[in-house]
Amino acid sequence: MSLKERIATLEEELRSLAAETRDEAEQLRVRWLGRNGVVTVLFEEFKQVASEEKRELGQVMNRLKVSAQARIDELKNSAVEAGNGTEGTGDITRPARTEPVGSLHPISIVRQRIIDVFGRIGYTVSQGPEVEDDHHNFSALNFPPDHPARDMQDTFFVDLGADMALRTHTSSVQVRVMESSKPPIRTISPGRVYRNEAISARAHCMFHQVEGLYVDKGVSFAELKGTLDHFAKAMFGADVKIRLRPSYFPFTEPSAEVDMSCSICGGSGCNVCKHSGWVEIMGCGMVDPAVLTNCGIDPEVYSGFAFGMGVERIAQLLYRVPDLRLYWENDVRFLEQFNDGAFRA
Ligand code: DAH
Repeated sequence: MSLKERIATLEEELRSLAAETRDEAEQLRVRWLGRNGVVTVLFEEFKQVASEEKRELGQVMNRLKVSAQARIDELKNSAVEAGNGTEGTGDITRPARTEPVGSLHPISIVRQRIIDVFGRIGYTVSQGPEVEDDHHNFSALNFPPDHPARDMQDTFFVDLGADMALRTHTSSVQVRVMESSKPPIRTISPGRVYRNEAISARAHCMFHQVEGLYVDKGVSFAELKGTLDHFAKAMFGADVKIRLRPSYFPFTEPSAEVDMSCSICGGSGCNVCKHSGWVEIMGCGMVDPAVLTNCGIDPEVYSGFAFGMGVERIAQLLYRVPDLRLYWENDVRFLEQFNDGAFRA
């Protein structure tokens, strides 16, 4: 039989090899690939082959050797998996089978960090429905009937009754909490909100907010500022400062917009803060007495503050995300960059 024919026969034989135990597989390895194994012997004979045949034959021989190695490894591994390892512990030299590991979405990470920061100063978490009625989303929050926020342009109305819509903000949850519980109330409400906006780098029709609410006797604006200052430092580091600018929201009086010294450039000016040194991070204010009344809380006895922030915005500042759409594209190259440890410096 020529060398070529013998190789063909061996290849055939290889396919029907079997081993019940690791020991048997090891015997096969010795018989095939050991010092006097059939493949080793073939390679010895190969030295005598005429040089013009070496090239072609060499390739066939190598293929045989590689498949013998693979087949015997396979037999060895399956014997171990079937619990036939001679030491009874499996083969600890086998390479580990790696599984791809997922990572948390940056929005999930940041939402959880916000909950943690407020949780440590006594805030509970409350939730409300995403399909909301006009009362909770607008009326109880003191939006006049002709307020532009109710406009078709901003709100997604749903076909579930005259005044049902996808909530446009999580402030609706403060109404629900005040209606169903008595002060002292100290709660945050994370959740999805929806607005009828064209999708761009800076706007999306669905995003996440966290609403905060504190109602008790004698709650002051100074406490609001102190709380938000604590929040900004806990999220972005002890060096950041906040400032409050007078603003307007129907449900708070007075109202303010909260700016933070730019966490990217440290306040010296960059394109994220449009060279102002400040970035807007949320809205806030003292709960309007009319809102307290609407929710069954006596404004003569209690006062409160509220604030609301966008989770995408906070995440954008923490992680320097240049385009809001990245959050929803589910591109693993984007998603893989975040993990819970990375930002707990
Ligand atoms: N609801 C506001 C919005 O969606 C955010 C907000 C501003 C919430 C001021 C508040 C607040 O509780 O006091 O833009």
